[in-house]
Amino acid sequence: MAIQNMIQLSDGFVFDYSTMLGDGRLSVEDINGLKCATNKAAEAIDVIRATGHAKNHLSKDGEPEPVFFMRLPYVKQDFPNNPRSMQKLHALAEHVREEVDAVIFLGIGGSYLGNKVLFDIFCGETWNCLSNEERKKRPYIFFAGNNLDPMQSLNLRSLIRNIGKTGEKKGDKFKVMIVPISKSGTTLETLTAFSYYYDKCISSDYIETEVAVVTGLDEATDSPLFRLAKEHGWRYFDVKDGIGGRFSVLHDVGLVTAAAIGLDIEAILDGAKAMDMACRSHDVWENPALLNATLKFLAADKCNCDIEVLMGYGMCLKSVSEWYVQLLAESLGKRYDRNGNTVFYGRTPIPAVGTTDMHAQTQQHQDGRRNKVVQFLYVESFSKDIVLGNPFPHIPEFSKYYGLSMQKALKAAMNANREALDGDKRFSAMYSLPLLDEFHVGQLLYFLMLSVAYEGELANVDAYDQPGVEAYKRIMKRELGR
Ligand code: PA5
Repeated sequence: MAIQNMIQLSDGFVFDYSTMLGDGRLSVEDINGLKCATNKAAEAIDVIRATGHAKNHLSKDGEPEPVFFMRLPYVKQDFPNNPRSMQKLHALAEHVREEVDAVIFLGIGGSYLGNKVLFDIFCGETWNCLSNEERKKRPYIFFAGNNLDPMQSLNLRSLIRNIGKTGEKKGDKFKVMIVPISKSGTTLETLTAFSYYYDKCISSDYIETEVAVVTGLDEATDSPLFRLAKEHGWRYFDVKDGIGGRFSVLHDVGLVTAAAIGLDIEAILDGAKAMDMACRSHDVWENPALLNATLKFLAADKCNCDIEVLMGYGMCLKSVSEWYVQLLAESLGKRYDRNGNTVFYGRTPIPAVGTTDMHAQTQQHQDGRRNKVVQFLYVESFSKDIVLGNPFPHIPEFSKYYGLSMQKALKAAMNANREALDGDKRFSAMYSLPLLDEFHVGQLLYFLMLSVAYEGELANVDAYDQPGVEAYKRIMKRELGR
């Protein structure tokens, strides 16, 4: 392996970029040669932190729009996360714990992907099959509205109906909370899912339905979800101006899921804050997010790496990759730079999960075009491990795995994948977390958001808009005739 080059934070987060450097890849001189640009990028991010002003950034209506995601780690009066919003989230957590049997979150894109990350990491895919006791009395959790697929809606409705009839209840009726999440309040997938599930739930004789909406509450947004919430007296949570969908997981959008599943919300934000503080230096070697951005920017610029694979080791990390797809694609996939030059910037994000995709994608990573950075994500210690027994002692192929820790095997698989890529001078890097707790998850998500923000500055593109999605939206409106 290449010489170890890494940044390790005192709380255990590691960014190991050894395998981005060396023969056929990048050099220290390449990075130092960009000093002027990295300094400028650091200055621009400082301005956004201090003022919320990102150069030339306009909303989709062409109006100046602030960028406030860098305020999310801090709970302050007049900040998007403030004492009042925290109080509302804690009240939601308590209410769900005491009163609610199941929560259906409805949303798409930035109003879904981060919520799914939190659910997958802290609950896991078998959550709805666990007993009340195993779920520590926390509710069943469902996600919908992330597609227009009628089969998905019908199947999920059947599942909810079955659980509602047979699962454990807190009272006479099965209490379902429906949570539509939409900043605009007008997204087709979310509104159709809301109409469908609301209709089915309120007309059911064994379900008691309540609704909490998460939407833009300001006058300009004029969200129909907020209008409904006022009309019906539902709970509502605010998606503040300046918090775009893909940067909203640490705001009410994602934190409602954190509250419903009983996470320590303050610890998530503390992790983000620790990362924000660790990424203040203008010296690229001392700032992990700036260095991450610089390495990816240079790999694209000098070595045509226009694909980034995010490969988390462990099934529960799969949705981190899916969340990152949106973050990278919408933020950096830009036709024009801020001066109006055509640049066609960005990398195609590929979600992957180890070890599963070592049996599917790795062939392409190892032998395909030299246009990829494989970004590994690893957790040093899962809360639980399995050490294998041996029910077949007479079969040598089984005996050799006797006593093997699966966590150790997972690490060996990732190291082997890194070493093999390195042996062919392929680009990779690794983020590693000591634990998968709230603090480190907040830290990781914020690190990725900030890295993308720095890269936007290096590439001189607006990382906060997504004009490219308007083209299909116009056509679709015409197709639907509404
Ligand atoms: O990043 C974005 O802005 C989008 O992916 C949105 O999150 C997505 O389109 C959903 O929008 P809304 O929250 O308005 O329903």
